[in-house]
Amino acid sequence: MTDQAAPLLERFRDLLGGEDEDFPISLGEGGTPLVHARRLGAELGLERLHLKFEGTNPTGSFKDRGMVLAVNRAVTAGARAVVCASTGNTSASASAYAAAAGLPCHVILPAGKVARGKLAQALAAGARLVMVDGNFDAALDAVRRLGEEGAAVVVNSINPDRLAGQQTAAWEVVDALGRAPDALALPVGNAGNITAYWRGFRHYADAGRTPGARLPRMLGFQAEGAAPIVRGTPVEAPETVATAIRIGNPASWAGAVAARDESGGLIEAVSDDEILEAQSTIARLEGIFCEPASAASVAGVRRLAAQGRIGARETVVCVLTGHGLKDPDIVQGEEGSLRPIPPDLASVRDAMEL
Ligand code: F0G
Repeated sequence: MTDQAAPLLERFRDLLGGEDEDFPISLGEGGTPLVHARRLGAELGLERLHLKFEGTNPTGSFKDRGMVLAVNRAVTAGARAVVCASTGNTSASASAYAAAAGLPCHVILPAGKVARGKLAQALAAGARLVMVDGNFDAALDAVRRLGEEGAAVVVNSINPDRLAGQQTAAWEVVDALGRAPDALALPVGNAGNITAYWRGFRHYADAGRTPGARLPRMLGFQAEGAAPIVRGTPVEAPETVATAIRIGNPASWAGAVAARDESGGLIEAVSDDEILEAQSTIARLEGIFCEPASAASVAGVRRLAAQGRIGARETVVCVLTGHGLKDPDIVQGEEGSLRPIPPDLASVRDAMEL
């Protein structure tokens, strides 16, 4: 176990950094809740279903875990600026940590399809935004080339510090459960996170910090319209309501395949309808509002449980990677049909159908 109150990089310094390495920048990342989802578990037929809610990170997604390490090291290396391509969350995180470090942050976004909340975060932190007429994969290509020219430090997950920092989520899961889960489910986009979790679980076991040195099966879920790993070939024009994972040619493809195969896990696709249904079910049964991409983990586990491919008593963790407030436009509800009524008791009671 580690000191939960210490900044993330201090808590795991022995596994992440050099003895005298300095990590002056922190926004209070990590230490996110692992919630025993009793009501959702009952609905899915799983007694030991847990949700790792990464939406409570400072910028509302898991990206902060790796960004804090990448930006601290960029500062140490004397970087003049940082740059990233992003479907939204990476840019929100990079902008925030760059602001705290006093570094300019350049963000290359795919045209359209970036959720409003994420764009607002980058703008608020003063990032310099460029939108390209192409998807995330095209934006990342441009960023790679900028990085090679040395103009700025790339803080996408092709920067190894990003994946190193993201391992901390796996370590927190083991610490919170007191063991490794039997299975861990998460959405797959650029495939950095599934790569980082698997490395993290292996690293913790090798370091003697996982009881019994057990390892989970890794269950990755892509959106049907953006499922290159499932199909085994890049997708030219990825499309999904889960814009965070609208990616056709993941940078960490090989890492994801290794995580799947070495863990005896799987990577499958879920439909946009299944994703939106899961997002709403998580909020209604557990009170946790996550963004659509995050709900792919629960959508996938729901299907596996229904097919008897996960045992009712297995310990399963679904990672909810980002906060629902980032993408408020996606929620369907009755807000649009609300009409004001007179504010007297009789009218209100009437309208409430009491
Ligand atoms: N969930 C959310 C909320 C994300 O923002 C992302 C990726 C993923 C899941 C997938 O993680 O790429 O490591 O497989 N978002 C990136 C971005 C691509 O630019 O913010 P992955």
